[in-house]
Amino acid sequence: MSAPDVAIIGLGRIGLPLALSFADRGLTVLGVDKDPERLSAIAAGRMPFQETGGDELMARVHASGRLRTTDRVADAAQADAIVLTIGTPSLAHIEIDLRDIRSALDDLLPHLRAGHTIVLRSTIAPGTTEFVAGYLERRRSLRSGEEVFVAHAPERIAAGRFLEEIDTLPCIIGGVGSGSGERVARLFEVFDAPVVQTTPVQAELAKIWANILRYTTFALPNLLMMDCEQYGANVFDVIDLINRDYPRGGMAQPGFTAGTCLRKDFAFSEERSNAPGMLLAVSRVNESVPNFLVQGMKRRATGGSLNGRKVAVLGLAFKRDTDDERDSLAHKLVRLLERELADVAVHDPHVATPTQPLDDALRDADVVVVATNHSDFATAATLQTLAALAVDGCLVVDPWNCLGSGQVFAFADELALLAGSPGA
Ligand SMILES: NC(=O)c1ccc[n+]([C@@H]2O[C@H](COP(=O)([O-])OP(=O)(O)OC[C@H]3O[C@@H](n4cnc5c(N)ncnc54)[C@H](O)[C@@H]3O)[C@@H](O)[C@H]2O)c1
Repeated sequence: MSAPDVAIIGLGRIGLPLALSFADRGLTVLGVDKDPERLSAIAAGRMPFQETGGDELMARVHASGRLRTTDRVADAAQADAIVLTIGTPSLAHIEIDLRDIRSALDDLLPHLRAGHTIVLRSTIAPGTTEFVAGYLERRRSLRSGEEVFVAHAPERIAAGRFLEEIDTLPCIIGGVGSGSGERVARLFEVFDAPVVQTTPVQAELAKIWANILRYTTFALPNLLMMDCEQYGANVFDVIDLINRDYPRGGMAQPGFTAGTCLRKDFAFSEERSNAPGMLLAVSRVNESVPNFLVQGMKRRATGGSLNGRKVAVLGLAFKRDTDDERDSLAHKLVRLLERELADVAVHDPHVATPTQPLDDALRDADVVVVATNHSDFATAATLQTLAALAVDGCLVVDPWNCLGSGQVFAFADELALLAGSPGA
């Protein structure tokens, strides 16, 4: 069998759509993953998670035979170009966890040869690309930029928009030495997106700071939401006052701000911060929203307790209309509610975790919390079902204003007035 054009190591939510997209552009691709379930789903031509347009793309590539898979990282060395799309979590020490990347590199090392290109597509802490180049030189005496080519080409798509954004978002490439950037640009030119060449550390900083910007942007309305509760103000009114016809407004809306990227990427700056604790504080604001909601529920509950009360949680995914539950604050909310001895019922139409049907979750609920702003929830039907099935005087907690009450904490009779006109 001839050598593949490109190998992708790590067939997760980033690596698999990328492997399929390369194959769809006519490249032969070797996909590598250590997860046998993932490999068997791909072998059967089945997407192991939701991605818009993913099923159709998978069917096309499966029929073409251009994507082969293996569980041996060493096999990736058959291809001249090797792309790493492995997870890069953050350790509890506020430090990037490079173990999976290191393990893949160690498996590759004996098989590397002059001419190989290694692309770090994973999100990484500043300095990691130069570390990888140095590691190859120390262990194999291969000089990056001359004998092997190493670059960071950060993945910047949002899950659910992969297939659209791979062709539109500028592809940042930070190559080590003189030759690396050009090699990697040639690989990615099968996509329509413009290529922007830079240094490795600038590519690393641009990627993580784009996520830090979002994480911080959402912490502000979340903190404001808590201040509003303290002062007896309505956060949605205050945000409207900030933004309305004001050229320097732009306050975002509150909600659960989390997910696998935002919750960890700030740590890649914080680990060597010039303002230690600043981004940690941003993280603590976003992380405290579930507890803020639980305390607000308790304050409004008869007897100040949720013990034995039925609480319906709508949504488990970390983001609207996805099935991705990783690092979702909805799970944290459920854990906190269980510690209050509440009787928790969960409904999410997207996720793989088994949940209850909407009717069952809402029936006789004392409290309903919108934890994820799925489009399915922002409907008149959801409001009507809630009004029909939850107890009279049910408390509705909706930091997203998904149901359109314009209040974080509202009572169902106030919402009943809105049943014909839910919010966006
Ligand atoms: N998910 C996103 O929306 C997104 C967006 C932009 C960037 N990123 C970044 O992309 C990277 C990958 O993220 P993801 O969400 O695809 O992660 P993921 O956990 O979904 O996928 C990683 C895959 O790598 C496999 N893997 C891990 N170590 C391996 C090894 N040694 N050999 C073979 N396979 C191995 C795992 O089994 C898994 O299937 C991360 O650095 C992440 O921060 C993710």
